[in-house]
Amino acid sequence: MEQVPLDFLGELRRTHTCGALRAADAGKRAILMGWVHRRRDLGGVLFIHLRDREGVTQLVFRSDGDPAVHAKAELLGSEYVIAVEGLVERRSPETVNPAIETGEVEVVVDKIWILNTSKTPPFPMEENVDVKEESRLKYRYVDLRRPHMQRNIILRSKMAFAVRETLTKLGFLEIETPFMGRSTPEGARDYLVPSRVEPGKFYALPQSPQIFKQLLMVAGFDKYFQIVRCFRDEDTRADRQAEFTQIDLEMSFPQQERIYETIEPLIVAVCKVAGYTVTSPFPRLTYAEAMRSYGIDKPDLRIPPFHCVDDLFPNAGLTPEGLPLVAIRIPKVGTISRKERDELKAFGQERGLRVYDDPKRLDRDFPEQMKAVRERIAAEEEDLLLLAGWGGDPKGQRPEETVLLASGQLRLFAAHKYSDKHKLLDPANFQFLWVVDFPMFEWNEEDNRWNAAHHPFTSVHDEDIDKLTTDPARCRAKSYDLVLNGTELGSGSIRIHRQDVQSKVFSALSFSEEEARKRFGFLLEALEYGAPPHGGIALGLDRLVMILVGETSIREVIPFPKTAKGTDLMTGAPSEIPDRQMRELGISFKKS
Ligand code: AMO
Repeated sequence: MEQVPLDFLGELRRTHTCGALRAADAGKRAILMGWVHRRRDLGGVLFIHLRDREGVTQLVFRSDGDPAVHAKAELLGSEYVIAVEGLVERRSPETVNPAIETGEVEVVVDKIWILNTSKTPPFPMEENVDVKEESRLKYRYVDLRRPHMQRNIILRSKMAFAVRETLTKLGFLEIETPFMGRSTPEGARDYLVPSRVEPGKFYALPQSPQIFKQLLMVAGFDKYFQIVRCFRDEDTRADRQAEFTQIDLEMSFPQQERIYETIEPLIVAVCKVAGYTVTSPFPRLTYAEAMRSYGIDKPDLRIPPFHCVDDLFPNAGLTPEGLPLVAIRIPKVGTISRKERDELKAFGQERGLRVYDDPKRLDRDFPEQMKAVRERIAAEEEDLLLLAGWGGDPKGQRPEETVLLASGQLRLFAAHKYSDKHKLLDPANFQFLWVVDFPMFEWNEEDNRWNAAHHPFTSVHDEDIDKLTTDPARCRAKSYDLVLNGTELGSGSIRIHRQDVQSKVFSALSFSEEEARKRFGFLLEALEYGAPPHGGIALGLDRLVMILVGETSIREVIPFPKTAKGTDLMTGAPSEIPDRQMRELGISFKKS
């Protein structure tokens, strides 16, 4: 790189950011600092777009200006860091640039300081340039300078502030909980940290602050929240990272309604920051209703529900007696080709469905019934209409559940593939809802035992407590999920605050008293010291920001995310550690 003489910042102080100047500032002197975004040389006049977090300002170096300043400006390359001082001038009408907020003015520079040079960036800073993710993650500090990443991270900060503001006004205290602790029961693998002082023992990084927030309620803090990092060793996906952030909260003496009354204004405030108005209260569906109408526990309400229509087709043989026949409607798809129909059919078949994809044929064979179907599901001429029944092995397991689940998948597949996405799946159409009354337990085929559907500290409905021992399958939990456009944004529950009930739940989960004491003894003990009724929820901040800024991966709203394999391409984590450190920790590795 050519040797460029660098200047000191000294006591130089900026007067404006690169996004601040407007026509009304014409005639003022300004000192700006930032990065050389773009440079144009027009016959001796040099134009530089200077960029910082707040925007871009055009600098002008005139040919009749100070030759020393001009000569220095000639040295500037992409991403050099400079400070300039000059006169703000209005641009002539034909040179106004409406694409930038400062586009009515420019700064005619008479002093320049070069504060640092830059190697040629690995990729251009422009918004619409497609860059391989690998390169973006390796040079993340450069990637983060790009306008859309700046916008995402800035909005994230503003949203986090709105969360703090709203919850503080509602009487919540922000309280920190430990990162080095015992394993928490959220169901994923833990990240472990070895203890040097007690070799062979490990801390676990928290999968969530679940137990600590409950202990804060026992401790009388009444309303707690935290914007907190959680760690789960699970496969990463577009909406999942090993390290992610929750808006975590807990309150004392709540009913479920109190939780909704807290979260809804919080969501309204955060959406407002992103420039959207959403209205509350949010609709609610029970888990059973969600499964019956959408075949999924996180329905995307932008797509219409399906309807069971088997009652309209008695003895028609479209689905075996007693099993659902589901009518799916995807609005305004128009005509689709034979090949596309076959694709829908195959998609359904692979999941145990028999798909009737030809409404004309159904109209011919079942004219009366089809009229009733169309009425029930409000189908219009240009809508895609599919019927789906059980097409799997007659001895197959849980056929009813399979038909509903597979129909739910078919509905999503068809909508994403064949609808006019801009209209139906408009990303700026935010459809929040609560899904409530989840089952308390899920049957674990592999281990032949019940698992907690949410976590083992979730209460059952008061009227279902007796079923804990007699009929666990029918116990409904006091739990709720917040869902947005088909994504689970948050999940929570009213907790068990009584030791006797907690013991019953542990025994329904086939935890022996001893096992329960060993894992959660401190919590069980705390419940014996005056634990108030309490409950809470945690929302995924990354997911919320992702959807509100219109991204499809949480990596776009996390400053330093990891790859699908959990590596950080920039720092090279995870990395090997020196032998000395291993010895200190009493760790050795067997080569497999
Ligand atoms: P849960 O495990 O459902 O509940 O998590 C709550 C919310 O956190 C987000 N989330 C994630 N986001 C990104 N990457 C991940 N790997 C990831 N895992 C979870 C989701 C999810 O809805 N302690 C309970 C909450 C409670 O009961 O109060 C809990 O953690 O948006």
